[in-house]
Amino acid sequence: MIQLDWNNQVFTLHTRASTYQMKVGDYGVLLHTYYGPRLRGGDLSYLLQYADRGFSPNPAEAGHNRVFSLDTLPQEYAASGAGDYRLPAIQAELADGSQIVDLRFAGAEARRGKYALPGLPAFFAGEAEADTLSVRLEDAASGLRVELLYGVLEEYDLITRAVRVVNGGSAPLRLGQAASLCLDFLPAKLDLITFDGRHAMERCPARAPLRPGVQGAGSVRGMSSHQHNPFVALCEPGADEDRGLCYGALLLYSGSFQAEAERDQFDNSRLVMGIHPRSFCWTLEPGEEFTAPEAALVCSPDGLGAMSRRYHRAIRDHLLRDPWKGERKPVLLNSWEAAYFNFNAGTLAELARSAAELGVELFVMDDGWFGSRDNDRQGLGDWWVNEEKLPGGLERLTAQVQALGMKFGIWVEPEMVSEDSALYRAHSDWALAAPNRAPARGRSQLVLDISRREVREHILSALRPVLSCPGLSYVKWDMNRGLTDVWSAALSPQRQGEVCHRYVLGLYELLERVRQEFPHLLIEGCAGGGGRFDAGMLYYTPQIWCSDNTDAIDRLRIQYGTSFCYPVCAMGAHVSAVPNEQTGRSVSLETRGVVAMSGTFGYEMDVGRCGPEEREEIRRQIRLFQKYYDLIQTGDYYRLTSPFEEGPFTGWQQVSADRRRALVSLVTGPARANAPFAAVRPKGLDPDAMYRVNGGEAVYPGDALMRAGYPLPPQMGDYRAFQLYLEAE
Ligand code: DGJ
Repeated sequence: MIQLDWNNQVFTLHTRASTYQMKVGDYGVLLHTYYGPRLRGGDLSYLLQYADRGFSPNPAEAGHNRVFSLDTLPQEYAASGAGDYRLPAIQAELADGSQIVDLRFAGAEARRGKYALPGLPAFFAGEAEADTLSVRLEDAASGLRVELLYGVLEEYDLITRAVRVVNGGSAPLRLGQAASLCLDFLPAKLDLITFDGRHAMERCPARAPLRPGVQGAGSVRGMSSHQHNPFVALCEPGADEDRGLCYGALLLYSGSFQAEAERDQFDNSRLVMGIHPRSFCWTLEPGEEFTAPEAALVCSPDGLGAMSRRYHRAIRDHLLRDPWKGERKPVLLNSWEAAYFNFNAGTLAELARSAAELGVELFVMDDGWFGSRDNDRQGLGDWWVNEEKLPGGLERLTAQVQALGMKFGIWVEPEMVSEDSALYRAHSDWALAAPNRAPARGRSQLVLDISRREVREHILSALRPVLSCPGLSYVKWDMNRGLTDVWSAALSPQRQGEVCHRYVLGLYELLERVRQEFPHLLIEGCAGGGGRFDAGMLYYTPQIWCSDNTDAIDRLRIQYGTSFCYPVCAMGAHVSAVPNEQTGRSVSLETRGVVAMSGTFGYEMDVGRCGPEEREEIRRQIRLFQKYYDLIQTGDYYRLTSPFEEGPFTGWQQVSADRRRALVSLVTGPARANAPFAAVRPKGLDPDAMYRVNGGEAVYPGDALMRAGYPLPPQMGDYRAFQLYLEAE
C-alpha cells in the first residue's frame, strides 16, 4: 500500500511487515525518514534531528541556517558535489566539466501495478498484487532529472527500486554512477553480511559490524562473479535465524556491481548498491535517459530465516519465468563429470540408457558436441554438431534419448569464442580487444562483444538451427571467464565506459529473444558454476548451476550461503562420483543424494559404472525426490544449523505452507569416538499438531519437537545423512 500525504509531503510504503517512508524536507530535499517494522504511518520526520555540525555545509537556500546539511540528514537518493560527502548514489560530469549534482523534489505519483523496465530483469506483478510510486527529482542548474521508482509487493514484504536518469538539459553529460539503491539509517549498530568466495566455493557468508568508513563487496569482472554476490544483508548485531531486525538488499544485475555501506561520523549508516562505477561512464545526450537495474529490499523484523523465506517466495512467484512452472521438473543427468570431452554417439547412448534405467528424466549433453571442440582451447563459436562424434546430428541423438523415455538437453556458451574456431577466423574483430593490444585469455578463450548488434544477430542465427532441434527441452547457458580488454569497435572513444553495461544489456536481449522464440526451453544459467548466480539471470534462466564444486560437504556451505536469498528451486545441484573431482573426498551416495536433493536435483556421473546397490540407491533417491518434490521445491525453507560452525550436524528443512508436512535433512560432521548424543530441533511446525516421523508408530507434539527436539541415533562414520519426514496426524 502507498500513502501520499500531500499536506506533510510524506510518502509512505507499507508491506505486511514493513514500512518505508520519505519526506520532502526543507528546500525540496527528499529525506529518508524510516524503513523498518510495520508502523501505522503518520509523519515520521520527528525522528530526524538537526544541529549545527562543523564542516558539514548548508545548501545555498538555507542562508545562515546552519542546522540543515545534506551531509548529516538521511537522504533518499544521495547526490555528490553539493554538500553530502558520504557515499553518493549518483555522480555525473556536466557539460561545464563540474561534477555537482544537487537534486530537489519535482513531483510524485502512485499507481496500481508494478512498473517494468524494458530490456532489464525485474520482478513482475499485476495490479492486484503491487503498486508503484514514482518520485521525480531535478538538478535545476543542469536539467538532470531522476525518477525514483518503487514497487510495493505488499503480501511479499518486498519493495523494489529502480532509477531513471534523464538529461533534461541542453548539453551532453557523462553519468559516472547511477545506483539502484540508496538507503540511509539513523544511528544504530548494524552488521553487514556479504556472500563471498571463489570459483568452486561461492557465496560463503561473511558478517562483520559496520565500522566507521566504507565497507562492502562488488565485482569489476563484467559478471556478478564467484567472488561476491549482488545480495547483501544488514542486521542488528544480535539478529540470528529466528530473531532480530534484518534488511536484505538484492540487485537484479549480472554484470559488475558494487554494494557499499558507510558508517558516517555520527553513526548514521548508508547502503548504496548498483552498477560498479569503476567500469561505467555513460554519455547522455539531451533528452536521453538511462535506466539503472532494479534492486529489491526486504525488511524482516523476525530474523534472517524469515528474510530468506520472503525472498524465496517473491523470487519463485514474481521473478522466475519457468516454462515448467506448476509442472514437476525432470531429474537430469549431465554428461560433464561423467565424460568431459571424451564421448561419441555410442558412449553417450550408453550413458543415456543407463540413466533411463535408473529413472532419470532428462539427459543433458554438456560441452564438447559442436565444431572441433575436443578440449577447452577450441571450437567455441562454431555452433554446429560435430558429425564425426555424433553422426545423424542432434536429431538422431534426441530421438534416441526420447525413445528411452527421457527429455533431451544441451550445453552452449554463446558469449565466447575460441581463437581456434571458424568464427574467430572469420570475425576476429568480434572479440573484446582494444586496438594494438593482444587481449588476455581466460580458460584459453576470448569474449565476444555482445554489446554489438551484429554479433548478437550472428549468435542467434548460429544457435537457431540447434535450438530448433525437435524434442530439445533444455539448454545450459554457460560463461567461463570474466571480461578483460573491454573495448568495443562499435563505440566512440568517449563511450567506451558503456561497454560493460551494454554487454549485460546484450546478454539480456539474447536471453529474452531465445525465451521468446523457444518458450518451451528450460534454460539453466551457469558461469563456471556459480559465477553469475544472481537475480538478473534468474529472470531469464529459472535455475542456475550453483557451483562447479560437486563435493557434497563443500556444497553444504555453498547451498547454505546461497539460500540466504535464492530459493532451492533455482539451485542447480547434482550427485557426482567419488572420490570427488574437486576435493578428492569420498562420502556415501546417500549423503550426496540428500545434499543434491535440496536443489534442482540430478546426477553428473557415469551411472553405467555403478554397482547394483548404488543403482538401487539412485532409484530410491529419484523416487524420494519425486515424492517430496513440491515440499522440497516450494516449501518454506529453514536453516537449522550452520555448516560453518562446529556441531554434530548441518541441518535444514522444508515445511509445507499449511505446516502439516516437513522434511528435515541432516548431514553429520567428521566422526568422533564416544560422541555426545545429539538432537535436532525442527522449525516452522504447528505447535499444536501431532507429527509422525518417517511413518513410524509414535507421534510427537509439534511444540515438543521444536522446543525439546528429536533425538538422533548415534552414528559411526563421517558425514552420514538422515532425512526425517514429518507428517501431521
Ligand atoms: C563450466 C561448467 O560450470 C561445467 O558444469 C561444465 O559445463 C563446463 N563449464 C563445460 O565446459
